[in-house]
Amino acid sequence: MIRAGDAQMDEREYRIPVDHYVCSDRFQSERSELFRGFPLPVAAATQLEQPGDTLAIDLPGMPIVIARNRQGSVGAFINACRHRGVRVADGEDVCQRKAFVCPYHNWTYDLDGALKGIPKREGFPNVDVSQHGLRRLPATEAHGLIWVLPDPDGAMNLNDHLGELAEDLNAYDFGKFQYFARRTTTVKANWKLILDAFSEGYHVSRLHKDSLAPYFPDHTGVFDAIGPHMRSFLARKDFLAVLDQPVETWHRSEHFTLTLYAFPNTIIVFSPDYATKLAMYPVSPSETFVTMTLMTPHKPRSEAERQHWQRSFALLDEFVFGKEDFGIAESAQTTLESGANTHLTAGRFEPAIRCFHQAIDKALLPKSAARK
Ligand code: FES
Ligand SMILES: [Fe+2]
Repeated sequence: MIRAGDAQMDEREYRIPVDHYVCSDRFQSERSELFRGFPLPVAAATQLEQPGDTLAIDLPGMPIVIARNRQGSVGAFINACRHRGVRVADGEDVCQRKAFVCPYHNWTYDLDGALKGIPKREGFPNVDVSQHGLRRLPATEAHGLIWVLPDPDGAMNLNDHLGELAEDLNAYDFGKFQYFARRTTTVKANWKLILDAFSEGYHVSRLHKDSLAPYFPDHTGVFDAIGPHMRSFLARKDFLAVLDQPVETWHRSEHFTLTLYAFPNTIIVFSPDYATKLAMYPVSPSETFVTMTLMTPHKPRSEAERQHWQRSFALLDEFVFGKEDFGIAESAQTTLESGANTHLTAGRFEPAIRCFHQAIDKALLPKSAARK
């Protein structure tokens, strides 16, 4: 394609109604269907290294807490005390604990969520302790990530969900990647506007002219839909130098950037020597809680290496993603209700945007059909 000066093209442009980014009914059904019905990779497995490590994660509408128990396995719970609902764990960082003690009246739960203590127990003669553990959520550790299904009554089958995407993660040895750093932020834009920006290479030479553009030829990539997930493979400028060399000399990380999208809300970008995982969680139609995690193929082996990754993360966090991509999504969000556009348009060479929206529509379909 590069030799021929070609791009992977859809037959025609694709239109997304602006309603999909502002409508509160749409937001509610996305939240209840997509963000309760599919496994979400909420953390890096190596973020909780030791038994007793716990982490609160504020999924909008369902704060959760994950914990590595004494036997070394990871559990996930709704972060809500069973007495009067107060959060049993707080803070952004991993916290080492022996138990969860609710700050309000000190009901106490072990790392498996079991209710172990009620001060002044005589006041609750009808509370069955065995039925008042923290609500457990299906959770599993796989491919270097902790996956949680935010539905206490649901069942998670991760292999079915991931399908062939698992092979891509395996091919890049993602299971061995180590947690390096994480930031959370709230972006004033619909979660899909942010993912739109990570679904195309069209803007790289333009929006990112002062950051990424020197590393990428203009919009030279291929894309595959993998069920509801996606794989995008973007050539880097270094690739042009080896284009005429034998394929064996091409290096997948140095010459290309792979971006995997895991339905519904996560992308993983593989840079030459680290990977960035971004997850978008809708707070409202126009607000998104974003977590950004840097993962590295191994733990830093020297101070220089640690500083290098720290600088890379700061550049992404403060500039490339944090300012350029999130800033542009916020800008678009402010115009959506102005009447300027009834729909947004994806060009023929932006097929991943089409697939992303079609996968969402398809996942919402059974519910909207049932409502009719
Ligand atoms: S709300 Fe948690 S102990 Fe009362
Ligand atoms: Fe971007």
